[in-house]
Amino acid sequence: MKLEQIHSIFLDEASIPPEYQLNDPICQRQYLINGELRYWEGALQESRSPIYVKTSNGLTSKLIGEFPLLTATESLQALDAAVAAYNSGRGVWPTMTVAQRIEHIQEFTYRMRDKRTEIVNLLMWEIGKSYQDSAKEFDRTIDYIGATIDALKDLDRVSSRFVIEEGIIGQIRRSPLGVALCMGPCNYPLNETFSIFIPALIMGNTVVFKPPRPGVMLYYPLLEAFRDCFPPGVVNTVYGQGSVIIPPLMPTGKIDILGFIGSSRAANNLKKQHPRLHRLRCALGLEAKNPGIVLADADLELAVKECILGTLSYNGQRCTALKILFVHRDIVDVFLEKFTEAVKNLKCGMPWEKGVTITPLPEGRAKYFTELVEDAKSLGAEVINKDGGTVNETFFYPAVLYPANQNMKIYTEEQFGPVIPIIPFDDLETPIQYIVNSDYGQQVSIFGTDADLIASLVDPLVNQVCRVNINSQCQRGPDSFPFNGRKDSAEGTLSVSDALRAFSIRTIVAAKDITSNKEMISKIVREHKSNFLSTNFIM
Ligand code: G3H
Repeated sequence: MKLEQIHSIFLDEASIPPEYQLNDPICQRQYLINGELRYWEGALQESRSPIYVKTSNGLTSKLIGEFPLLTATESLQALDAAVAAYNSGRGVWPTMTVAQRIEHIQEFTYRMRDKRTEIVNLLMWEIGKSYQDSAKEFDRTIDYIGATIDALKDLDRVSSRFVIEEGIIGQIRRSPLGVALCMGPCNYPLNETFSIFIPALIMGNTVVFKPPRPGVMLYYPLLEAFRDCFPPGVVNTVYGQGSVIIPPLMPTGKIDILGFIGSSRAANNLKKQHPRLHRLRCALGLEAKNPGIVLADADLELAVKECILGTLSYNGQRCTALKILFVHRDIVDVFLEKFTEAVKNLKCGMPWEKGVTITPLPEGRAKYFTELVEDAKSLGAEVINKDGGTVNETFFYPAVLYPANQNMKIYTEEQFGPVIPIIPFDDLETPIQYIVNSDYGQQVSIFGTDADLIASLVDPLVNQVCRVNINSQCQRGPDSFPFNGRKDSAEGTLSVSDALRAFSIRTIVAAKDITSNKEMISKIVREHKSNFLSTNFIM
């Protein structure tokens, strides 16, 4: 990448291929409460793309649209609607059979599929994710919903029987918890939001749903499907400034489960506001600072390839990204040479360009990355890749910092972007102590070829983090694998099947094994009088 290419990274309107053009700005005034798309007369918030275009007046960011800046009043109305739809567990949705709820979700998925083109394009424009990754995010979400349905069918089949233990007949199923507040992150505004929203819904909870910012506009094409596919009040959407519309919800004590993917600071603040702490269940995906450890005998081609993917896929804006690299001093020079060469070969550009990796970032992020780089430079690191850290509006060219050390902000702060600190080490205790003392405990990647050494690292590291990746970057997938973290990185587990558990509770109907009870239970089951006490088997 040449400097002049960075300075001319943004294109003019005419250079955008027609299939990726942004349509006229969306003026969204609707929000969904109690099955009605209400019309908002109040203030709107502009949603601007991180993608700039060249105009006769210079570079300007593209306007995607506007959405309602709701207030605490509408937010509380959304909560009331969800509370009423749950109706203390007596609502239509929580008492429906699992098979019926699955039908609603399937209907929603058909409607969602029809909106693929529109949603993928909005996703790309809103967060600057490459077209290829935006399409992958959409498809992965559809697959996630399908896998969730399959997992719930399995769960329900296992629960469709009675057990008799110690003279007690029982049927054990999972029941909903109540009202869920679901908020996902802006780096995976669709996939990660749905990884909490869909399990919450399918288990019979009613939901207040706040889309992330950026990431609001891509939900506009789904509003009617939310309204049409679920009973009134089951899905309610709120928009606006999180600091205005979310704080009023928690103190009511009416939120039963918080599904949140974001920062631990925000999660702590939300939890503290709930008046009955142990009544609030939480499924949280929080920040991480996953290290990569490159051992002296690592296969360097492979290690560099995986470290590039780990640090710079989607500009490093993944909670699972490798955010700090420890490289053995014996091989650090060769590693740096290969790594910076690989950074140089990454394609930078607009998200619709084929094979692009480095794309524009949300407004304000480049300034923060420059601060991190300047701080590291003042404490002894250099930017070792040519033109690293060059900024053009929202575009930030990756900066590789070497040698990084513990005094730098980048050592502990989760950068969430294309700044890569590299630390040389002689003694394995250096990276191990980093992990032990870190506030985070999501994953680690270790690169090496000596089975004894790798094994000796695996055993202690599995007690520090929740996934140890061998010669592979850190990642969430496959979605059937448990996704979680220790310390400030997560609460609960969010795989396809674990998420179903996170948003529900095991509940039993039990009776002493006497003739009159057996006759009554048989009658209830035979005559299909209950949705819970039932041996119906979902095919
Ligand atoms: O932002 C965190 C995501 O869960 C990362 O998912 O590893 O599939 O990119 P991924």
